[in-house]
This record gives sequence, structure tokens and C-alpha cells, in this order.
Amino acid sequence: IKMIKVAPSILSADYVNLQKSIEEVDKAGAEVLHIDIMDGMFVPSISYGPNWVKAIRPITNMELDCHLMIENPERYIDVFAKNGADLIGVHVEATQHIHRALQMIKNHGVKAEVVINPGTPVSLIEPILYMVDQVLVMTVNPGFGGQKFIPETIEKIAELNKLRNEKENLNFEIEIDGGVNDKTVVKAYEAGANVAVAGSYVFDAPDPAERINAIKKATDF
Ligand code: DX5
Ligand code: ZN
Repeated sequence: IKMIKVAPSILSADYVNLQKSIEEVDKAGAEVLHIDIMDGMFVPSISYGPNWVKAIRPITNMELDCHLMIENPERYIDVFAKNGADLIGVHVEATQHIHRALQMIKNHGVKAEVVINPGTPVSLIEPILYMVDQVLVMTVNPGFGGQKFIPETIEKIAELNKLRNEKENLNFEIEIDGGVNDKTVVKAYEAGANVAVAGSYVFDAPDPAERINAIKKATDF
């Protein structure tokens, strides 16, 4: 079966009943749990920190995908790795030293991801693509849930897909994040996306499991 992997973002979950929300999406077959870390500097919002990863780690076997929206993320890589992250994503726009940041992640034996904002070209990350397990193509400007998918980002997914098909040393998955639902996911999947983050579409629904299935069904071709 093909189908995209689904990564519900707990940014839109019910924080006082977080365990219930996590168990619900876990049961529904979500492969990945997306954890959005916002520092109030790189993005306007402040969300939650590494202690949340520590608290969540024992209650699920889903892959914990930590999306660091933090200035100079190098400062926090160690603690996220120690607290149980399976994958750590760093924005190329947030550090002067993306190569070093990715090296730090890999040294912990954690999957390394580079993230690009909608205004950032693929060419900027080409020199480090050989290092990463995943590229996250932001399909909205980071900082808030519930925004509208930016269709122009599809071109960058296609470009990354082409690069990984052409070059033998490239072996990454492509993740999309922002404004994802059962409609917007289709073109992104066709262009080569492997993992779909979905926050409000999943957690603002009465039945999150139904929404996870809808994304999977939409990409079952
Ligand atoms: C945005 C975050 C996203 C967010 C997506 O800054 O990176 O992960 O939770 O929310 P939706 O799916 O509602 O656009
Ligand atoms: Zn995110």
C-alpha cells in the first residue's frame, strides 16, 4: 500500500486531556506524533518545551517528531534528544551553522531533519541534503495552527523529489506541515511528499480518527 504517513500535531490538541488525544491518534494509525516547539522569537508564539517530550515519551510508541521553531536551535538539541525525540527538525533560517546543527542531531543517533519556510529556496539546503533523514517543507509560515495551505510550495516538493531520485547519496523523506487536509494533501503527495503533518484538521474535529483516515484515503493511489 502506498498512502502518506500521518503526523498529527499536538499544537491543536486539548492540552488538559493530552494523553487522551495522543492515545486516540495512536489507535487511529497515525505513525508519527508532531511536536511543535515555539520560542516566541523565531516565531511569535510560545508553545511548550522539552519537558513535554519527556512526559509524552512513555505513553506512546509513535515516532516523536520535534519541530524546533527556535532561534539557534543548537542550544536545545541535546535536551530534546535526551528526553526521547526520535527526529529533530531545525530551520535553516534559524541558525548560521546548519551543518553543525545537523551533525549534533546525528551524533545523538536521532533522525535529522532540515526545515524550510515558504520563502526559502531548495537551493539553500542542497549542500546539506546528504546529511538528512527528512526535509520538512513548510506549507504555511510557521507560528500558528489553522492557516491556509500555500500551493506554490508544491514546486519545492517536486524539486526535492527530483534531487533525491537523481542523486545516489540522497535518502530523505519529505514532510509537509501547515494547512494540510484531505484536499490539500493530494498534490503534495503526487509531488513526492511522504509524511503529512495535520493539526487543526485532526484535532478540531469531533472524530480525529476519521480525519486521519480521510488523509490516508485521499492518498491511496
Ligand atoms: C505551524 C506548525 C504546524 C501546525 C500546523 O507553525 O509548524 O505543525 O501545528 O497546524 P495546521 O495543520 O492547523 O495548519
Ligand atoms: Zn510543525
